Amino acid sequence: SRTAAVIPAAGRGVRMGPGAPKALRTLNGTPILVHAVRAMAASNAVTLVVVVAPPEDTASVRNLLADLVLPDRTDVLVVPGGENRQESVRLGLDALPESVTTVLVHDAARPLVPVDTVDAVVEAVRDGARAVVPALPLADTVKEVEPGPGNAPEPVVATPERSRLRAVQTPQGFDRATLVRAHGASRSPSGEGATDCAGLVERLGEPVVVVPGHEEAFKVTRPLDLVLAEAVLARRRA
Ligand code: C5P
Repeated sequence: SRTAAVIPAAGRGVRMGPGAPKALRTLNGTPILVHAVRAMAASNAVTLVVVVAPPEDTASVRNLLADLVLPDRTDVLVVPGGENRQESVRLGLDALPESVTTVLVHDAARPLVPVDTVDAVVEAVRDGARAVVPALPLADTVKEVEPGPGNAPEPVVATPERSRLRAVQTPQGFDRATLVRAHGASRSPSGEGATDCAGLVERLGEPVVVVPGHEEAFKVTRPLDLVLAEAVLARRRA
């Protein structure tokens, strides 16, 4: 039984502004994707990393990762991605060898997740959970709104009790069969797709559990996040 990490990295990163796909932008000179691959390979449990690349950049991503020095136990595969995150994850799952029984799905956009968080997720799956998500309590109060057109004020529908909410990170960990079933059940031909694999498992009616996430597993989404990520790297080197 093997643990593999699938890294969906096929997004354009439109919120980051114009330029290269987000996963190929650099933090202190190293592409975000390379940081993310290293973060997964840092776990002793992970013996395969499947990177799902922008289809038009698959060859260059393969080149980029060919030179990467990783632990001997770790293989890397690069496959072309799809229209949305969900489709990209499914394409990554299709590339897994039979021997893989535990699957981590990790956003390339979370390059700095600490190895202890990765290990905690793997351990929870090995202890019997079928779906595990790392998450943190929220600092902000969250309101549900009725989205309106343009910049018109939006009516508030509800204010969920903050202490019961968690902001979900990755890697999310799964029993392989459960994750494959969740993706098979939810094939949506178009549209956004799910923003989170665990949500698909919930739709199956299967239990999903939360383990503590980490501040440094934040998602690099906007330009300000690049500044924060580089500061975290500088602090680690100090
Ligand atoms: O857009 P968002 O930040 O939710 O994307 C989360 C992750 O999904 C990113 O790592 C992104 O590269 C990936 N993604 C993908 N294929 C797409 C769209 C997003 O692999 N078509």
